[in-house]
Amino acid sequence: MTDLSTTYLGLQLRSPLVASAGPHTGNPAMWQRLEDAGAGAIVLPSLFEEEIEHDAFTREQAYDFNADQFGEAQSFLPALDLPDVGPSRHLALVEQARERLGIPVIASLNGTSPGGWVRYAKHLADAGAHAIELNLYDSVVDPSISAADAERRYAELVEEVKAEISIPLAVKLSPWFTAMGNFAERLQTAGADGLVLFNRLYQPDIDLETLEVVPRLSLSTSAEVRLPLHWIANLFGSVRCSLAASSGVHDGADALKLLLAGADVVMSTSALLQHGPEHLRVMERFLRDWMMERDYDSVNQLRGSVSRGNVPDPQVYERANYYQVIHSWRPTSHR
Ligand SMILES: Cc1cc2nc3c(=O)[nH]c(=O)nc-3n(C[C@H](O)[C@H](O)[C@H](O)COP(=O)(O)O)c2cc1C
Repeated sequence: MTDLSTTYLGLQLRSPLVASAGPHTGNPAMWQRLEDAGAGAIVLPSLFEEEIEHDAFTREQAYDFNADQFGEAQSFLPALDLPDVGPSRHLALVEQARERLGIPVIASLNGTSPGGWVRYAKHLADAGAHAIELNLYDSVVDPSISAADAERRYAELVEEVKAEISIPLAVKLSPWFTAMGNFAERLQTAGADGLVLFNRLYQPDIDLETLEVVPRLSLSTSAEVRLPLHWIANLFGSVRCSLAASSGVHDGADALKLLLAGADVVMSTSALLQHGPEHLRVMERFLRDWMMERDYDSVNQLRGSVSRGNVPDPQVYERANYYQVIHSWRPTSHR
């Protein structure tokens, strides 16, 4: 029997196919279907820095108001760091997922600036999460902030979150860092037990009728898998931490390529939203059949075998390949 088990963030998973954060993982009605379809773990939707800050702000206002009114108020008002409405619903979701699922539950925290809100990492851990995924979803548009400043801030944030928890920490990144290898090492030094490559950044659109800027969410396509493929192949062997692939994983072939490049787990959202949780079964079937045909006994055996350090011509993962690629284009018809 082909062994699909893998280790991610020090957790033993029965399969490298993981349901990444999205509406499906936030819907308790989907959980059993994801587990039955073979998910190795699930990542719950993110708790956002903005939600926590907003909640803390509202409660602080209430606190100040009452404290002004009654001298003894400070002694009977609840401590401000007790989880309440928005975030507390989220913590309840983590507790529920933990109770109902036999597979690891990864909670996600989404934010970019160090601050009091990172205490929620501890609340998520206390609610039963097996690990935390910190999503550094950011788009630095302020020209006075340098790349070095932004990277320092992210590394400090990772240190802060890590200091709050005793469970493993993964960091989900955008792909647009100038020196990805160096930044990956800094995050690892700051305490990241794993990197999730990558976030998809959502750019807004302009509505030509109303001339309004509108949010437009489009799901990924399989073509997007090349970006995590490139970086996982390059980072495999150079960082010690776990590597998770996210973006563009739509079928078993996509998943397999990422494992060959060096991913410990392969995550999927768009494909599961399009085809339902049972699509994981189709992906797993493909993995098993491919491995059996080629006499691979386990995922561990194949992982990283087509990473940068393990291919005869590492240049295909590098810029020199750019020249060859653009000159390899052949028109299929003349127009
Ligand atoms: C509707 C939707 C909601 C999402 N919500 C979250 C979220 O709460 N936290 C997060 O880290 N990623 C979130 N994502 C991003 C996915 O986890 C994933 O990284 C991204 O969609 C790329 O993977 P894919 O190509 O398999 O879709 C969301 C994606 C979609 C489409």
